[in-house]
Amino acid sequence: MTTLENTTGTTPVASDLVAGFPFPFPEDRYRYSTNVEPAEQPVVTPAGQWGAAVVDIDSEYRSELDQRAAILAADPSRHAVLPHMVPAAWDTMLTLMRELDAVYPEQMHLENLGGDEWLWRNDILGIEQCFRYADAATLPDEPLRYIASQVQEDIALLDQRNDQLFVDAGVVTFAADWSFGFDVGMSFLEIHGPVPRIRKEGVITRAHEFLKRLQPHQPYRRTNWTLTIDRRLDVSTEIYHEWGPDRETIQHVDDEEFGRRVHLRVEVQHLIRLPDSGAIVFLIRTYLLPLDQLATVEPWRRRAAEVLAELPADMAEYKGIIKYRDRAAQYLRDAAPVAPLPSGPGMPEWPTTPPPVDTTGAAFLVVAIGRDPETAHVSRNWVSTAEAAGTTRLLVLDSLTEEEDRTALAAAFDDAVIGTRIMVAGGQYDVMTALALAREAGAVPAELAAYVTDFGDLPMYCAHCRDTFRVEAVPGGVVACPGCARDLEIHEHHSPTMGSYLASAAGGDE
Ligand code: HEM
Repeated sequence: MTTLENTTGTTPVASDLVAGFPFPFPEDRYRYSTNVEPAEQPVVTPAGQWGAAVVDIDSEYRSELDQRAAILAADPSRHAVLPHMVPAAWDTMLTLMRELDAVYPEQMHLENLGGDEWLWRNDILGIEQCFRYADAATLPDEPLRYIASQVQEDIALLDQRNDQLFVDAGVVTFAADWSFGFDVGMSFLEIHGPVPRIRKEGVITRAHEFLKRLQPHQPYRRTNWTLTIDRRLDVSTEIYHEWGPDRETIQHVDDEEFGRRVHLRVEVQHLIRLPDSGAIVFLIRTYLLPLDQLATVEPWRRRAAEVLAELPADMAEYKGIIKYRDRAAQYLRDAAPVAPLPSGPGMPEWPTTPPPVDTTGAAFLVVAIGRDPETAHVSRNWVSTAEAAGTTRLLVLDSLTEEEDRTALAAAFDDAVIGTRIMVAGGQYDVMTALALAREAGAVPAELAAYVTDFGDLPMYCAHCRDTFRVEAVPGGVVACPGCARDLEIHEHHSPTMGSYLASAAGGDE
């Protein structure tokens, strides 16, 4: 197991838990939906990948199985198999053994010895077991409980009868604020009774119809999420007294402790129609990542902050995070990486966070240049604030190295009325070039605001061929002039009017 180096003071977390984390937000806003998709499609993330298989073993395998065993020993209500579900329990066990054997062939082995006789080996746990299918005497445990002691997933089994689904069996030790013991025997629609919004919006009735038509060998999956304090898998209703008070006390800890203890909790839920019994297996695999680790993956940090800040109060209340979700959003916002800004008397002074909209403007022109998601994000935020204050125009351009884009920008500046606030976001070359064009069109510094999302390039003025170029370099660096081919040193000396840094022959060889 590789553990991430703790050079930044963040919580040490095994590297596979970050790389395999199923970050659940496809956009900056979250609402309930019937978010099912075919399973077994790997999802590539900025940190790694998840989702290639319906069962997933990671470095927490033994620890989570030990926790499950302890919970089951202390509370038998976490395991139930109603009498008519016995065939489905066997079906589930064999289905999961087949999955494990297919996905982890080095460690998991299922062999048919002829007819109903099977040999099962789990080399991680050192298990070797011969059994006869549907013969309880040949297994050391009830089959659902037996396989649940070898997968990290919680398991619920749904029976389909009278055009409805009923949760009639399962082993659920890691419930997120619900009670399996209470829900067992209830219908799918009844179980979702407490969830706000979903009845009115038809989310659950659509899911119900979908699940009733689910076919064998076509597994589907969805994600769900919440926040959990500490790396605590069992946040079930039964032991609320143990974890519930943390929701209050977490508000009073310092930032370091907050980022270490508050976790984004994501459930990857798989839905599989069993081939023999016709029941549906619902697998719930829970992943926890502390916010301080989440914040090290920039796109996750930014998006999770937006989702938490925007989540409607009724949903935050239902998820049990209403008391600390604003703080969580702020924690993630404050964790924004400070750009390695060059500094010095001749250098531009770029703000480290997007400057606020000056709402006293007569009108607003927001210019977003380039495809960086951060540029899109910052400009969208500017637009929504500006629109509330007055006439707003958004101009999206590819790059100011393109003549067409420079012309479009110049035309927008010409059209702008006096007093228009101009806000530019993009890479350094594009921002400096745009600001110089704005000044050329008559804008004064008080009317201009900018946010640089990428410092990888800059506009360089060559003192020898007297032209300006976009170069991928930093002030102080040496670069070949695209015009005269001399090796140029880029000086820490910029001109807002020219919109460029001065460069001259390196080593004074001119
Ligand atoms: C496509 C299928 C499904 C959809 C769209 C769905 C949707 C949802 C949603 C939106 C929530 C609220 C979650 C939150 O805000 O954190 C929820 C909660 C829940 N779901 Fe599902 N769900 C599905 C399948 C299932 C299945 C098969 C079970 C079977 C056990 C289940 C059991 C639950 C439970 C127990 C809760 C918590 C309810 C409570 O507060 O007591 N869900 N579900």
